[in-house]
Amino acid sequence: MNDTWEKLYEECSSCTACELSKTRTNCVFGTGNREADILFIGEAPGDNEDKTGTPFVGRAGQLLDEYFYAVDIPRESVYIANILKCRPPKNRDPLPAEEDACIEFLRRQVKLINPKIIVCLGRISAMRLIRPDYKITKEHGQWVQKGNFLITAVYHPALLLRDPRKKEDMLTDMKSIKEKLDEITGKK
Ligand code: URA
Repeated sequence: MNDTWEKLYEECSSCTACELSKTRTNCVFGTGNREADILFIGEAPGDNEDKTGTPFVGRAGQLLDEYFYAVDIPRESVYIANILKCRPPKNRDPLPAEEDACIEFLRRQVKLINPKIIVCLGRISAMRLIRPDYKITKEHGQWVQKGNFLITAVYHPALLLRDPRKKEDMLTDMKSIKEKLDEITGKK
């Protein structure tokens, strides 16, 4: 049977496949344009996301919004999701077993959206979606073709809050993403 957003959301929000389901307030499913050309994928929900059920609404999300604004990619035009749909305690890194338990939901989201471009937000997402030994410091901003998708990774906005010297690289990468998007969608 064909997958649907309703079915996927229902399964995701009632999932008990890992321990994180016991401590979540909300499942943070994903948000945005379900027909987006571009899909941004972060790591896992934080406190604000767990409380609201929406990805990237805390400080890191506000910084991400500034980059969307700076390069003229409206947030409403993209889809934003995470590798994990439930918040890890104290915002620790996802465990491999948690990623394995959750990744099918993301795969199904990718299939339903069928974006042209996927942007990994941070190293955890890049290591899962591009290569396990991905080195974000060296490889951020580079493009990789994977199946039907063009994939790149940028620094995680939470890292930029801790290390503002990386903000210049982030702006360069986001500008290149906007250029690629325009190129692919024929706006250029
Ligand atoms: N960090 C992430 O990786 N995802 C969110 O949704 C919020 C913060």
